Amino acid sequence: IEKLEQLYEGKAKKVYKTTDPDIVWIEYKDSATAFNGLKKEEIPNKGILNNRITALFFQYLEERAIPTHFVELLNDREMLVKALEILPVEVVVRNRAAGSLGKRIGQEEGTLLPKPILEFYYKDDGLGDPMINEYHIDAMGWATKEQMIQVKEIALQVNSLLIDLMEQVNIDLVDFKLEFGLHKGQVLLGDEISPDNCRFWDQETKERLDKDRFRHDLGGIEEAYQEILRRLESKLLT
Ligand code: C5P
Repeated sequence: IEKLEQLYEGKAKKVYKTTDPDIVWIEYKDSATAFNGLKKEEIPNKGILNNRITALFFQYLEERAIPTHFVELLNDREMLVKALEILPVEVVVRNRAAGSLGKRIGQEEGTLLPKPILEFYYKDDGLGDPMINEYHIDAMGWATKEQMIQVKEIALQVNSLLIDLMEQVNIDLVDFKLEFGLHKGQVLLGDEISPDNCRFWDQETKERLDKDRFRHDLGGIEEAYQEILRRLESKLLT
């Protein structure tokens, strides 16, 4: 398989065509953005760390029957994934109140939720990814009802599997964002799973090991992402 022309450049990744029409080549960049692109910086090695962390999470999920786009880790910054028609719906799964949810429901940061909460956002940078519900998704044709049944089931299964995995490395999975796409008509988990789109808290120290360090200028971003990779490797690469 060979890398062909660039198809798309996003905020954190570049996507290239390959000689296989069913597979695309992903390159992880070091750019970090927050607040809908208002805050922007280069974080040395972030692309390498997120590429490796995402590959470990996707391998773990694939081994547990979650249908994902992941094909193969190529090198430090690159991986192969199945080509997807991305559904324009971002799915946020939450186990504790944090970030925008804390404000919305008036709960202190860290409050354990009685059960996981799923939220949907319309993936549109121009609109700032507004929150939507399943009626918007159905009416606008962003996904079918059948696809949304799959999306919700996979999202909740991923949550259970990741809570369990992170628990074993002393990390609280506070919340995370997933994206889904269609490949030959099948709903697959796409995008990435990394400290860029998850909140990971150290269970003992409550230290933030994720992008909140960047959002709130806490420093030590690269070190935090490195710590997530180190703990995952210690658990998964045996
Ligand atoms: O900001 P908020 O509390 O709504 O974010 C919930 C979770 O979704 C966080 O883990 C955050 O990193 C992730 N997220 C994301 N991309 C967005 C919005 C939120 O990865 N556009």
